[in-house]
Amino acid sequence: MFNKSIDNIKVFKVCDYAEMSNLAAEILISEVKNNPNIVLGLATGGTPEGMYKKIVEDHKLNNTSFEGVTSFNLDEYVGLTGDNETSYRHYMDEHLFNHVNINKENTFVPFGVSEDLSQGCLDYEATMKELGPINLQILGIGGNGHIGFNEPGTSFESITHVIDLDQSTIEANARYFNSIDDVPKKAVTMGISTIMRSEKIILLASGASKLDAVTKLLKGEISEDMPASVLRKHPNVIVIVDEEACPEL
Ligand code: F6R
Repeated sequence: MFNKSIDNIKVFKVCDYAEMSNLAAEILISEVKNNPNIVLGLATGGTPEGMYKKIVEDHKLNNTSFEGVTSFNLDEYVGLTGDNETSYRHYMDEHLFNHVNINKENTFVPFGVSEDLSQGCLDYEATMKELGPINLQILGIGGNGHIGFNEPGTSFESITHVIDLDQSTIEANARYFNSIDDVPKKAVTMGISTIMRSEKIILLASGASKLDAVTKLLKGEISEDMPASVLRKHPNVIVIVDEEACPEL
């Protein structure tokens, strides 16, 4: 493993997806052990699947307890209820919550179906303020540099809000749906300032499709056109990136 600091970001360059997943799981598990009442910020998608698998394996082997843990997910598709197999609530249940001893009442995922989505966003912020701060936030990164579903152009001041997904995001996520027409066009996402309130952030990136975004994150301008670049202003960020996704450092 190779590591280097860029601005405030500690970059861990690992060989591949498996090594990225193992390291991320190790850090998360040790943070849970150090603080059994930790508040986690969690991501979905292909990137953290391996990390969740490792956490579940560890729970079975070593009984690491999630009894006191609270979690907030980054985002949810508009129009999908939690029992829909392509919803992020369902993803979290399947990949993590059903397999560890977390109290589901302490797991929060934004609601994608509600009479008043804007009020739902404000309520989500209020719950995070009441139970937070988020001690450790896990992030993936979109090929276009999004974090959460904050697409390029989103204000760095944004809080939880409804967003129109970029066409590239819809295309990237079509793999989880029967057809591209089934991919929701909108999502509810924590905002960028919401994410920046987290005490510590770990961003994971794997594979050649993330190389451009990681290059801009680490070496480009800090700009709302590149949402992840905001992380260079945060005091405590770790980026775990595999060889294919890592620029020359
Ligand atoms: C998911 C999320 C997104 C993903 C990103 C990468 O909750 O907030 O930002 O992390 O779209 O997705 P994958 O990991 O599928 O490449």
